[in-house]
Amino acid sequence: MKIVVVGKGGREHALVRALAESPGEPELFCYPGSDAILQMARPVAADGLESLVEWMEVHEIDLCVAGEESYLVKGEGLANLCEKAGIPCWGPHLQSAQLEASKESAKAFLERQGIPTGKASACGTLEEARAAIGGQYPTVLKFDGLAAGKGVAVCLNQEEGEAFLDEVFTQNRFGPGRVLVEEFLTGPEVSIFAAIVDERYLIFTPARDYKRIGEGDAGANTGGMGAVASRQLIPAELLATIEKDVVAPTVAGLRKEGLPYRGFLYFGLMLTPQGPKVIEYNCRFGDPECQAVMPLVKGDLASFCLAGAKGELKPELISFDEGWSVCVVLASAGYPESSRNGDVIHGLDDPGAFRVYHAGTHRSPAGEWVTNGGRVLAAVAGGATRAEAVAAAHAAADQISFDGSQRRRDIGIMHFED
Ligand code: AMP
Ligand code: GLY
Repeated sequence: MKIVVVGKGGREHALVRALAESPGEPELFCYPGSDAILQMARPVAADGLESLVEWMEVHEIDLCVAGEESYLVKGEGLANLCEKAGIPCWGPHLQSAQLEASKESAKAFLERQGIPTGKASACGTLEEARAAIGGQYPTVLKFDGLAAGKGVAVCLNQEEGEAFLDEVFTQNRFGPGRVLVEEFLTGPEVSIFAAIVDERYLIFTPARDYKRIGEGDAGANTGGMGAVASRQLIPAELLATIEKDVVAPTVAGLRKEGLPYRGFLYFGLMLTPQGPKVIEYNCRFGDPECQAVMPLVKGDLASFCLAGAKGELKPELISFDEGWSVCVVLASAGYPESSRNGDVIHGLDDPGAFRVYHAGTHRSPAGEWVTNGGRVLAAVAGGATRAEAVAAAHAAADQISFDGSQRRRDIGIMHFED
């Protein structure tokens, strides 16, 4: 089986490795990939969406797996172009990927389908936004579009609210677009992933990510400083409620609204005192949750995704470890405001029992791994208990070093009561 994975980050490194470990030994390619990924997968000679699809046609690719979302919403959409070319694609069509690309569309979908979520109004001008806030703080302001993770502001007071509105409406920082003024919700967050194939789905291992740069959830938002995953992360009854109130109605809603979906759907949830509420959908796996979840997936992920892309959900092809998995991200100096490239990374030679997924690294001509981005890599390890997985993942991260490295030592520890 020939598979192309689309993307270049830590999530795609984890996906490529999980697919490579599938029993049929698939032949793997990655576009655009990274130096680390391209040690496990071959490169694709393409320069953009259309040439990628052409290349896949010419090379008789059996399956395209969408890692990152950007290609799903570019041009005519990766999945749409694959369909035209007759290439099975694990990842949704352009029109379905609006659930991630437009927060306003997602909110309208949630409301139409009666799925629990925070109340919100969409505003096109500064005045409308101010009126919708009505002086009520805290409030949550979301730019309606892809904004590289910078488009959401949880505003505790008027000063913060005005600063974000100024960025959107006066400085046009994200380009033209509307703002969603959303009710401020409280509670622990959880990331739920479902593999959706038309009207059927399979829920993967739940995870939690740590978005802030600092321990104790202090400081700026990042792309994610770590994650913890386990079937035991949330009680079975709560997962059953999430399935009944959120996952099943979402899948049914996609069908009712004629939105084709074959691929992973990520439900960002807040476990509020009133029950689980959706704060966002992403039409892909989470990053860094994928790096924590994939080592728990057993069986034949490649055949599972291929069958799914062709319209058959085959849960019997995979299973999930009952244990825990913890992913600790190492970020470069200056992150998240900036990042530093070129610092030599030590400790990668013998990963032993843990896994290392590269997100922002580069292999120098001398053969050394150096930093090449904000989030550099993740050390991932598992255990039968959370304590074991936490100890193993942090011990793994301790073995890796580079100048200016930043990491959180409370990954897998914070947000648990015991
Ligand atoms: P999003 O990109 O929509 O996931 O938002 C980024 C982060 O902002 C989330 O992970 C939450 O921590 C926070 N957030 C989003 N929506 C809300 C909300 N309605 N109430 C409180 N916090 C929120
Ligand atoms: N873990 C957050 C994200 O993938 O968007």
